[in-house]
Amino acid sequence: MDQVPSAAIVTGASSGIGRELVIYLDSISAADELWITGRNGQALSDLRDSIKTKAVIIEADISSDEGIEILRRKIEDEEPSIKLLANCAGIGYRYKVEDQSDSELKDTIDVNCTALTRVCRMCLPYLRDGAGIINIASSAGFIPQPGFAVYAASKSYVISFSRALHYELKARHVRVTAVCPGPVRTSFQKRATRGAGDEFTGMRAHIVKDPADIAVGAVKANGRGHRTYVPGISQKLLHLISKIIPQNWIIRWIKC
Ligand SMILES: NC(=O)c1ccc[n+]([C@@H]2O[C@H](COP(=O)([O-])OP(=O)(O)OC[C@H]3O[C@@H](n4cnc5c(N)ncnc54)[C@H](OP(=O)(O)O)[C@@H]3O)[C@@H](O)[C@H]2O)c1
Repeated sequence: MDQVPSAAIVTGASSGIGRELVIYLDSISAADELWITGRNGQALSDLRDSIKTKAVIIEADISSDEGIEILRRKIEDEEPSIKLLANCAGIGYRYKVEDQSDSELKDTIDVNCTALTRVCRMCLPYLRDGAGIINIASSAGFIPQPGFAVYAASKSYVISFSRALHYELKARHVRVTAVCPGPVRTSFQKRATRGAGDEFTGMRAHIVKDPADIAVGAVKANGRGHRTYVPGISQKLLHLISKIIPQNWIIRWIKC
């Protein structure tokens, strides 16, 4: 019998999709322990106090080597039996490349690509056979997006990386799912506009989704072994179009 408690690790657990994912995992008693990470310690404590599953808080800025090492040390010290890893931490800025600071560009790549990759790697030895990995990408990763170029490219990376990792881990029956939502009602949009506004406008206002629905759908899709989960008709259509229409044509219609 396995004596080590099972764990689900969620990055970006302090708000939005990651927080809702933790709440859902708690509701279905998905693991003995929920490891919740983010920078906002107060939000993580509040989340821990609101759930019944034992929560382990790891406060870390994963855009930095120091933050990554905090997480790595914890994992190597505790040697958890990981049932699920959900990489939800993410950031992006809705500005042209020339209008973003060097640190905004760096943070986007560091959190969305580098940290996600390193967290996957450090968890691999501790993943149970048959475990799941959920990587939150975005439908922005389907097509290059002028005005949101670095974010969209970072999410293309997440989709490509997740698909390949799924095959690398096939022998261990580990399922890797890239989740590709369109607009979701979280603090993402406010951060993406440097605090200018948290509401989606135009067409996005009509298709914006609830983070709890994305979280539940992601866990279910991963459980079914889906390599990609694209929530909603509009994003499924975008996914299809991105496969059949030349990208140079689509880019002209995209307005970020
Ligand atoms: N909302 C959307 O429209 C949308 C659409 C498609 C995909 N997504 C993706 O969904 C994921 C979750 O975003 P969300 O919508 O839930 O937005 P959110 O509410 O802003 O959540 C983002 C999470 O990422 C964490 N994070 C950001 N930078 C970090 C850092 N340097 N170190 C550690 N944690 C960091 C935040 O934690 P702290 O604040 O505690 O640092 C927060 O928990 C992201 O990958 C995002 O790209 C969002």
